[in-house]
Amino acid sequence: MRPGRILLIVVAVVVIAGLGVLAWLITASRPMAFAGGGAVALADYKGPPPTGVPADFASTDRIARGQYLTRAADCLACHTAKGGAPFAGGLAFKLPFGVIYSPNITADKDTGIGGWTDAQFLAALRGGVDDTGQFLYPAMPYTAFTYMTDADGLAIKAYLFSLKPVHRDNKDNSFSFPYNQRWLIGIWNRLFNANQRFQPHPDRSPQWNRGAYLSEAMAHCGDCHTPRTLAQNLDNHRKDAGAVTAGWLAYNITSHRLYGVGAWSDAELAQYLSTGYAPGRGVAAGPMGEAVDLSLSYLTPSDIAALVAYVRSIPPVATPGQPAPVLTPAPAAPGQGVAEGYDPKGKRIFEGACASCHSWTGQGSLTPWAALTGDRAVNDPTATNVAQVVIAGAKPRMGTALTYMPAFGAAYTDDEVAAVANYVTARFGAKPSNITPKQVAALRKQS
Ligand code: HEC
Ligand code: HEC
Ligand code: HEC
Repeated sequence: MRPGRILLIVVAVVVIAGLGVLAWLITASRPMAFAGGGAVALADYKGPPPTGVPADFASTDRIARGQYLTRAADCLACHTAKGGAPFAGGLAFKLPFGVIYSPNITADKDTGIGGWTDAQFLAALRGGVDDTGQFLYPAMPYTAFTYMTDADGLAIKAYLFSLKPVHRDNKDNSFSFPYNQRWLIGIWNRLFNANQRFQPHPDRSPQWNRGAYLSEAMAHCGDCHTPRTLAQNLDNHRKDAGAVTAGWLAYNITSHRLYGVGAWSDAELAQYLSTGYAPGRGVAAGPMGEAVDLSLSYLTPSDIAALVAYVRSIPPVATPGQPAPVLTPAPAAPGQGVAEGYDPKGKRIFEGACASCHSWTGQGSLTPWAALTGDRAVNDPTATNVAQVVIAGAKPRMGTALTYMPAFGAAYTDDEVAAVANYVTARFGAKPSNITPKQVAALRKQS
């Protein structure tokens, strides 16, 4: 064979491989691809409407409907600074290359979005473009909201515009070159933002379709739970297989019976999503606790059931790095369970600061909310979320102080946080962790 021909073959193979990778990356952006073909345009769908507010939401008031949808999409969580006015922005998102702040989305004409038209609002929500034509960073989950209908997007706008405008200037991000080049996001969007509305699957149940809309267009579960590719789009080839979000691990929630939530009953999943706790399965703390408190706990029972039906259908993905949780309590005697003399520092801290609420068995002394048995976090060999909850604590929820955990971040050194986290996973989990003080220091910076 002539050398020129060999070169041509090499070039062809490289081009084909490159196109293959690109196709793989682009298909990874489709969150509902696992459901197979057969999706139809919303207008052609014959079943009950999967969009809007659910049938069991009593109010016919437009603003109340907008509030329901705003909660379902959890705009509040990101657009409110710690201790700041609702929707007035300023929450910091710490990324490896700088900090980005959420903007003010109250109806203030100077500093918020009070002057925005409906079209501008929908373009930001679903296309990731602001009122001046600049591209937004995908820290705003427009790649999920892109599936939202016009009516639902505008109901959210109507709700936001019904609230008192708050005058609060936006803060610029601290990105350096090349990350500060917003036009690059325009190219990224062409590849990875579907920019298309939700399409129901007539071959699936109406409940599944409602769950799909809630999960993909509203609650953006995948934004936290789905790992990302090198191009930073969601890798839906491993949909919901677990990912890091704001320094916390959002665990595998696929239908895998060992590594995901496939072994949870419908009732357990429903209770976890609507209250942040399921007996024998643990609690939702950190970003998931916030998603429950600000968003999911407001959903009607029919919407929670729809979410459960949808989550159940997500194909199982194995994540052997995260062993199946141990479901049996630890022994009641402090000296039993883990080897004698194991991690004396961690044990001492647990005894002094934790055992009174969590008990040596891990069943919780005062309240089942403090049960650690079966909780994914204590079975996670990275101990990430255990260290995070020790640092940050957990807010009371469902109106009871019994669900409160104090923050120990200020009281303990990185070394102490690491020691107690490692003790807790060894005592209550499937596999002892070995989180280091350095890793704890890094976690503190992210939350
Ligand atoms: C996961 C966090 C997150 C959620 C949830 C979220 N946003 Fe955002 N949003 C952001 C961030 C961060 C930005 C700024 C992006 C940038 O500067 O490029 C932003 C930007 C915006 C903008 C552009 C404002 C401007 O002045 O440029 C609008 C409008 C907006 N969001 C509306 C919403 C609405 C409505 C919802 C709920 C349906 C929502 N966002 C949910 C994080 C979020
Ligand atoms: C803002 C990020 C975020 C969003 C959005 C989010 N999650 Fe989570 N989720 C997490 C984190 C972090 C955890 C781990 C919580 C913990 O350790 O206490 C978690 C835990 C869970 C668990 C428990 C898993 C286990 O094995 O214990 C389930 C189930 C779950 N999420 C389902 C959902 C569903 C369904 C949605 C969408 C309706 C959703 N999540 C949206 C971050 C998120
Ligand atoms: C005053 C009682 C109290 C004390 C003291 C306490 N906790 Fe907790 N802890 C709770 C409660 C209540 C929850 C459930 C919080 C929720 O609803 O999110 C919890 C949750 C947890 C979780 C589950 C986190 C998750 O993401 O699933 C871990 C792990 C934990 N605590 C470890 C500790 C450790 C380690 C200490 C000691 C340094 C400690 N706790 C001290 C009450 C307490």
